[in-house]
Amino acid sequence: MTSGFTIFAGTANAALAASIARQLGVGLGACGIERFPDGEVAVRLLEPVRRKEVFLVQPTSPPVNDNLVELLALADACRRAAAARITAVLPYFGYARADKRHGCREPITGRVIADLLEAVGIDHVVTVDLHAPQIEGFFHLPVDSLTAMPTLCRALRDRLPSDAVVVSPDAGRTRLATQYAQCLGAPVVVLHKQRESGTETHVTHVIGDVSNRPCLIVDDIISTGGTLAESVTALLNAGARPEIIIAATHGLLLQGVRDKLVDPAIREVLVTDSVSVTEQNWPQLRVASIAPLIADALERFLTDGTLGDLYKANASNPVADKEKKKHASTALS
Ligand code: R5P
Repeated sequence: MTSGFTIFAGTANAALAASIARQLGVGLGACGIERFPDGEVAVRLLEPVRRKEVFLVQPTSPPVNDNLVELLALADACRRAAAARITAVLPYFGYARADKRHGCREPITGRVIADLLEAVGIDHVVTVDLHAPQIEGFFHLPVDSLTAMPTLCRALRDRLPSDAVVVSPDAGRTRLATQYAQCLGAPVVVLHKQRESGTETHVTHVIGDVSNRPCLIVDDIISTGGTLAESVTALLNAGARPEIIIAATHGLLLQGVRDKLVDPAIREVLVTDSVSVTEQNWPQLRVASIAPLIADALERFLTDGTLGDLYKANASNPVADKEKKKHASTALS
């Protein structure tokens, strides 16, 4: 039997954790998190968690390894303090892109992370827009991967020109782009991307018609911005109207990203707060909060409610339903 619940925030995104807690009508659990001079992490829970349901909110965003170890240490502290159940809320799951081997003598680091989370006694993982759904299969415990797509579509409402096309920046995001397109009632275009290295990509083909159309490029992650910068160039070269909106769930926004996305054709860059966004002085950048989505999910766990509709990309259709019917087919030729 559990006796209440506590939400602890790691240091990666305490503002999001606080916002989730506020929406659930509670304060954050008290804990101390420090770094020793040698870089090691020191964690202490400052309140009891015995028989409690515990939620640890920590995206494993950059600095990825530090934030991961902090989460592992918090979970271990909760387990040793006899928490009834530990749910790790990772709004962004680092190493998700390391989900397969590209050649021999390579690790599958995404799997290693899953093993580590299980090893410290985490019972349940909640994440948002997991880079590849098969990562769920790395775990033996329940994983709930929510989607921020309806949140982002709501934020795009009224801002997207009615003749816009939704663009997938590579084959891997085609499904995501199709979900956005269905939600927004727009056609889909797919770019063929080749990755030359961790920082270099190249778009070789635009599949679909973008002539004189505004574009909404959707992605799960903006890291260096290379993928999107290449996509914008390819779309403009293919005749797209210089009216481009970018929407992505996880704005890692590494150093230099803003400079890559300064093209005047880019009207807006929309991300969620799954990762703490500290960028200042970037007027095109807008942040939509996923705190209500996560708070809703946690409330449902606490009341044994179903999460089914929080998974579904088309759970709520915030934009034009009738437009959706009109454009049901894609622009793919
Ligand atoms: C790739 O598969 C992902 O979906 C993103 O497109 C990619 O990780 C973005 O990285 P960057 O901003 O460094 O191009």
